[in-house]
Amino acid sequence: QRPIVRLLSCPGTVAKDLRRDEQPSGSVETGFEDKIPKRRFSEMQNERREQAQRTVLIHCPEKISENKFLKYLSQFGPINNHFFYESFGLYAVVEFCQKESIGSLQNGTHTPSTAMETAIPFRSRFFNLKLKNQTSERSRVRSSNQLPRSNKQLFELLCYAESIDDQLNTLLKEFQLTEENTKLRYLTCSLIEDIAAAYFPDCIVRPFGSSVNTFGKLGCDLDMFLDLDETRNLSAHKTSGNFLMEFQVKNVPSERIATQKILSVLGECLDHFGPGCVGVQKILNARCPLVRFSHQASGFQCDLTTNNRIALTSSELLYIYGALDSRVRALVFSIRCWARAHSLTSSIPGAWITNFSLTMMVIFFLQRRSPPILPTLDSLKTLADAEDKCVIEGNNCTFVRDLSRIKPSQNTETLELLLKEFFEYFGNFAFDKNSINIRQGREQNKPDSSPLYIQNPFETSLNISKNVSQSQLQKFVDLARESAWILQQEDIDRPSISSNRPWGLVSLLLPSPPNRKSFTKKKSNKFAIETVKNLLESLKGNRTENFTKTSGK
Ligand code: GTP
Ligand code: MG
Repeated sequence: QRPIVRLLSCPGTVAKDLRRDEQPSGSVETGFEDKIPKRRFSEMQNERREQAQRTVLIHCPEKISENKFLKYLSQFGPINNHFFYESFGLYAVVEFCQKESIGSLQNGTHTPSTAMETAIPFRSRFFNLKLKNQTSERSRVRSSNQLPRSNKQLFELLCYAESIDDQLNTLLKEFQLTEENTKLRYLTCSLIEDIAAAYFPDCIVRPFGSSVNTFGKLGCDLDMFLDLDETRNLSAHKTSGNFLMEFQVKNVPSERIATQKILSVLGECLDHFGPGCVGVQKILNARCPLVRFSHQASGFQCDLTTNNRIALTSSELLYIYGALDSRVRALVFSIRCWARAHSLTSSIPGAWITNFSLTMMVIFFLQRRSPPILPTLDSLKTLADAEDKCVIEGNNCTFVRDLSRIKPSQNTETLELLLKEFFEYFGNFAFDKNSINIRQGREQNKPDSSPLYIQNPFETSLNISKNVSQSQLQKFVDLARESAWILQQEDIDRPSISSNRPWGLVSLLLPSPPNRKSFTKKKSNKFAIETVKNLLESLKGNRTENFTKTSGK
């Protein structure tokens, strides 16, 4: 199903919206490469944030005439674009050309009252549209899909792909965030910002993590943080004269306590006043305190933190790596999907590898190719200019932000080869001795005995995979070896790609045979060969539902 995204006449903004990487997914697609953003991360964030501020979310009746809907809303101001989606009801995301139109719409809106309950009169940008005459509307609008295809559909698509390269690109195309989903993510942050602004009028709620780093999969969580630096910068204006004015404030013993207090109040506020915010949990004693909630109308599981500038910078770095070469995202998506299919990752925190760590491993692997596919973080730092200089909490986060200043790689290896080599490389990596370090792009001695050590690129004394247990790491290594072996076998006995038989990437996403012994590169395992073959055979039919769980992470 294709989403409806119409660009209505709105001088000045239409041209901007038709930019290459902003094309709505309903328009002609020339391939996955078109999705690679070329703009600076900060420009993209600012532009999308500004768009979101001109946007409203409307819960609609199930049957609605699109034309009448648009005509009704146009009385409040010209509309730039809109789309519909379903999430326990029909919703519309409507972007006006001007921010002022939202005020007009709010003025023409009333707070409902019912006999049984009392409404808290909170005026947000989330509305409920009702029909005056229940019987007058008959048509159903087409809606944009916010979740990936079912496993069965994906399986079929992958089986009919032309090559393993094609499979990886197909998986990326199917799973990556759509234009509409990205808009909905920025809108959700903007709606939360409106609530936080009741306390901190100049705050910004910024999305980070996989929602913005171009590695997000449809259905992934929405990480956001409350940025109060704007407030501080505004108040730091230099004034003339002999005096310096300060705000009277309350002081607390540490930054952590300040964060906990702010998040505690915001959590209460979201719980009591936030339309559509449900299941609010205040997780304030975590290493990084957060408020977790579901934004029902968008269907996003949200994690709100404060002062998370380093995480935003990590997102920017991943955005740059994702944009440098079209193979990066394709490989990361497949590895993430492979890890999820084998329960190496989970949406529940624990001793398993995270998607963030897996992405770092892929980046590191691509830095180790000859010639390298990705530059090291140190070389991105060398290319930086004065504008790129950035120090956060004493950590040097300087790297080049202008993508055009980074030379494309000379490496021409196929995705198929890279996938195989990834499994070979990490199936044989000396995890007991070495750490992974994308700053220098080479293995280093592990500074401590953590089973998996991936140096935090900005807080260099920290390990981003400190949580990973020895048994989870061993599971990763075993599965990597097994996958390398499966791909090797396919080279020898490649199934006809026109058949419906699982092959290539699909074989890797299938569950491992039970009681599997540890694989080694050199050792042939007859039992495993037979089990895999039988399993592949048994999947010829329709038993494809449980080879991977596509919802969530
Ligand atoms: P998903 O699994 O798709 O949500 O990927 P994600 O990249 O959004 O991961 P997650 O939601 O777990 O974390 C959000 C962001 O926080 C990441 O993108 C990182 O920037 C940052 N982050 C997560 N885990 C760590 C960690 O262990 N150390 C550091 N320094 N940052 C982390
Ligand atoms: Mg996330």
